[in-house]
Formats: sequence, structure tokens, C-alpha cells
Amino acid sequence: METVTAVAALRARLDEARCAGRRVGVVPTMGALHEGHASLVRRAAADCDEVVVTVFVNPLQFAAGEDLGAYPRTPAEDAELSARSGATVLFLPDEAEMYPDGRDGVLTSVAVPALAGVLEGASRPTHFAGVCVVVAKLFHAVGPCRAYFGEKDFQQLAIIRRMVRDLSFPVEVVGCPTSREPDGLARSSRNVYLDPDERAAAPVLHRALREGRALIAAGETDPAAVRAAMAAVVEASPSGELDYVAVVDPLTLAPVERAGPACRLLGAVRFGRARLIDNISADGSDGDRPG
Ligand code: PAF
Repeated sequence: METVTAVAALRARLDEARCAGRRVGVVPTMGALHEGHASLVRRAAADCDEVVVTVFVNPLQFAAGEDLGAYPRTPAEDAELSARSGATVLFLPDEAEMYPDGRDGVLTSVAVPALAGVLEGASRPTHFAGVCVVVAKLFHAVGPCRAYFGEKDFQQLAIIRRMVRDLSFPVEVVGCPTSREPDGLARSSRNVYLDPDERAAAPVLHRALREGRALIAAGETDPAAVRAAMAAVVEASPSGELDYVAVVDPLTLAPVERAGPACRLLGAVRFGRARLIDNISADGSDGDRPG
């Protein structure tokens, strides 16, 4: 695996690969890589000849007061995990490389406002515009034919799919199943913020989503009843402050009028410093399973 820090060098390396007919896939990340990222890299390696893992903690997607400074940074471990999982290139730009005019010098916006104001966007109103800008730049730098994202960030995945469709990026977006700990907790770089008590309580979010799914499977069609049942599971937990639970259409992210198997169940719960998000499909088609 080759490590590259400059966009020009990355393009030169990948142009050569493309000329030789090699398929390029990308796994965009902010580092602090874990088994969930490894599963994305393995999937990309199964599909593509070149797999680029990008590691960049993107300041544009953090609002003032969020955890940009504290976000875990583990470059040596990231390189090891990427190589072991099948990456051929690790792209590790610094901020000046990604934003030559500074993070406040980006005057262009790329956004999908119709999908970005709800759920996560309700409490993080500038987050997804920052994600779209950096993902658009990474797509231009890498020129992948496929890009791999985890379903754990379901709203992000929906927004990136829409951005790619609306702006005709020649990239196939591949959503990959959420990777979970044996007790159901979705793997996340931010899980390191949990203290032992919070870590023990954190799987409650997944249990709440499963409760919603079980109700729908039993025939409940009232989304308010499904939301109430999910909220009750979280509220019965000794720790964890519920932000939201939602029953939405998976493409528009709009609340559904009638709950059913095609819905997506999402939630966010705060445990101390960590704000955890998770989601599952109502029909179990996402292969949701702990472990
Ligand atoms: O999901 C993430 O890690 C980030 O939001 C992404 C897609 C790498 C953009 O910075």
C-alpha cells in the first residue's frame, strides 16, 4: 500500500492505473478506523483493482463547539488496518491540501437541503453541506468508479446518493451494512468517548430500533405508536438522553404516514460526550445482526 498526501500525486498514480484498465474504488473516512471501516475496504477490494482509503478529519462538517479538536486521530493504526484489509493507496491530505484557501475560503456550496435539514440536520444544520463539499472534492481527486459508505450514517448515504445523481458524478455509490459489536452497538469512531457505564448502556439504541421493527412486523402501522415504543426503550435505560427516534421513507427521509416494512427506523441518543446514531430497516433486509 502506498501512502500519498498530495492531490496531484494521487491523480498521477490513479491515472496510470486507469490507463492500465484498473477499476478504482474509494472508501472515504475520517480515520480512527475500526472493523466497520475494514469491512468497507474488504468489500471495495473484492470489487475493484485499486482501493483508495482517504483519511481526512474534515473541519467543514463540524460546527463550532463540536468535537473537531477531540476527534480521535490514529494514523499509524489506520495505515495498518487499511493495508491489512486490502487498500492499495492511503490518501492522507492535510487541511492546506484539501482547502488551499483555508477552511473559510471555500466559497462554493454543495448541498442537498431537502434531505439535510431533518434528523441529524435538525441539530447539526451545517453538517451535511460540509460532508457534500469534501466528498465532492474527494471524488474529483480520486476519480473512483465506485465509492463505499456505511449504512450506519444512513442520512449521509442518502444525501451522497442524491448529490451523485443530481450532479451526474460518474460514481456508483455502494451502501454497506452497519458493523456491530456482539451486544448490538453500532461500531463508530466516537464510541471511544463512552465511559464503561455508558458503553454498557449504549446498545439500548439498537434494542429500541429492534422494538420498533418487531412492532411493525406484528402489524402496527401507526408511526407515532412505533416511535413511542422505541422512545420508551431508551427512556427506561439508566443512562442515555434521547435526541430523536424516527420512522421515515428511506429515499426522501420524510416521516411516513403509515409504518410498514419499507420504512427505515432511525435514532440518536446522547451518552455523556458521545452522541450515538443508529438505524435499521423495518423489514430486516439490511441483515442487521450483532457481532
Ligand atoms: O462518514 C465519514 O466518515 C465522513 O462524514 C466522510 C464521508 C468521510 C466525509 O468527511
